[in-house]
Amino acid sequence: MLTVVRGEPMEYDLRHRYRCDLVPIPTGQRGADVIQGLTRRPKTLPSYYFYDQRGSELFEQICNLPEYYPTRTEQKILASAAPEIAALTGPCDLVELGSGSSRKTRLLLDAYSQLQGDCTYIPIDVSTTMLQTTALHLLADYPCLFIHALAGVYETALEHLPPSARARLLIFLGSTIGNLSPQEEGQFLRQIYLSLSPGDHFLLGVDLQKDIHVLTAAYNDSQGVTAAFNLNILRHLNHCFRGNFSLDRFTHWAFYNEELHQIEMHLVSLEYQVIQLLDLGLEVDLRAQETIRTEISRKFDVTLMAKQLDCHGLPVQRVWQDEQKWFALLLCKRV
Ligand SMILES: C[S@@+](CC[C@H](N)C(=O)[O-])C[C@H]1O[C@@H](n2cnc3c(N)ncnc32)[C@H](O)[C@@H]1O
Repeated sequence: MLTVVRGEPMEYDLRHRYRCDLVPIPTGQRGADVIQGLTRRPKTLPSYYFYDQRGSELFEQICNLPEYYPTRTEQKILASAAPEIAALTGPCDLVELGSGSSRKTRLLLDAYSQLQGDCTYIPIDVSTTMLQTTALHLLADYPCLFIHALAGVYETALEHLPPSARARLLIFLGSTIGNLSPQEEGQFLRQIYLSLSPGDHFLLGVDLQKDIHVLTAAYNDSQGVTAAFNLNILRHLNHCFRGNFSLDRFTHWAFYNEELHQIEMHLVSLEYQVIQLLDLGLEVDLRAQETIRTEISRKFDVTLMAKQLDCHGLPVQRVWQDEQKWFALLLCKRV
């Protein structure tokens, strides 16, 4: 069951070109992943809880930090590759997972507007406020753009894609795929395959393995924005589930796990404490120095990723990389 989100009043033209459907997590499943993560050792939290309004704003700040190379590197690759991507796919509707501020997507919207005139864009994001704010800016800047936003988590939203008159290009940027474990990634690629039709395309941005110092600095910035972003997950959980996390009883910790090729972000409990999330009927205790892992960010080998996509019926048509080979964009065509 979808709910159409009513946001700020809009001018007629914008209302005519914009729709946002809320795709809720099914009742009974909401919070189940939080309970599961906090009742095992080591403790974990699902990383999509970072993204309330404040979390989305903090992520935008992270993208502008000098240490955080992924956004500007991917943006640079896209700036030169976008016209070629549009030429390779031909006319398309654009569907984007974890669209955020859609700042890099603008480069694709420019290319597809040139190619086909009007453009339909289906952004999917768990952050409803970010979806709405971004949509208003895009509609103002692109007079021939139609937006049908889906507010929810990927898995549920992908089951509610509106029908398309054109072929689809499904976009997943920012190396957000790195937040999934290898097992989750396999299930996710299977779902992508099933959401597309033969001949549709999938554009994936992945952060590549590189010098450990570059990686570590990107998640431990000198201004403390990443630390604030990490701690904000607790504030969001307090709000969602009537929790009693005290942010000053935790500290940010991020390191590169060389064996698993992944950055791990944790929150370290500074003392023994008992946490309650009343709406989930949950009480857990944390020892001093015990950690909650809030995010993994896997770093990839481009050849292995191409093989993995191929195994899932998404063979790679073309790869673009920056000069330092820090980041890659892979365009796949669904068989
Ligand atoms: C790392 S940011 C990337 C944003 C943007 N794509 C970029 O490349 O800069 C991840 C985005 O995905 C959204 N997100 C994270 N997990 C999600 C999930 N499970 N379902 C839907 N959206 C999710 C967040 O709200 C956020 O906007």
